[in-house]
Amino acid sequence: MAVERTLSIVKPDAVAKGATGAILSLIQEAGLEIIALKMIQLTEQQARGFYAVHKERPFYGDLVKFMTSGPVVVSALQGDNAIARYRKLMGATNPAEADDGTIRKAFATDIEKNAVHGSDAPETARIEISYFFNSGEIQAPVEAL
Ligand code: RTP
Ligand code: MG
Repeated sequence: MAVERTLSIVKPDAVAKGATGAILSLIQEAGLEIIALKMIQLTEQQARGFYAVHKERPFYGDLVKFMTSGPVVVSALQGDNAIARYRKLMGATNPAEADDGTIRKAFATDIEKNAVHGSDAPETARIEISYFFNSGEIQAPVEAL
């Protein structure tokens, strides 16, 4: 199985409710290694750029407003099959459909304020990690990735 990296964001709703530590613990307990980590306040331009893939969707404006409503905690995770494993740990986008034991089941409020983001494919993971971290901020360099 391939070693992958993925970008995680603890979204403003989860940071505001004090769930950052619990979420990072779940990530580590799932065997995903945190190789970069910081708390930041997204600018409107950063949020628009990050979610540009959704710019034609009706929820885009609300999503940008939500993602800039308070600090977020961004991290890069590494492990075997990390992208799919983290998506599974996150749970469904709509927390009403999220399985027990997932981050969104435990901490999300609704389909928008859903506690966490995770990359959905190797190419988006690469782009998203470099959106927030330069190489000096990533602590487990793997040449092949
Ligand atoms: P993410 O990108 O944040 O990891 O979430 P995802 O893949 O599970 O879901 P995606 O379809 O990529 O949607 C991105 C984020 O937009 C918000 N959203 N709101 N109001 C709505 O119907 C709606 N649909 C999506 C959520 O914050 C979702 O995570
Ligand atoms: Mg997505």
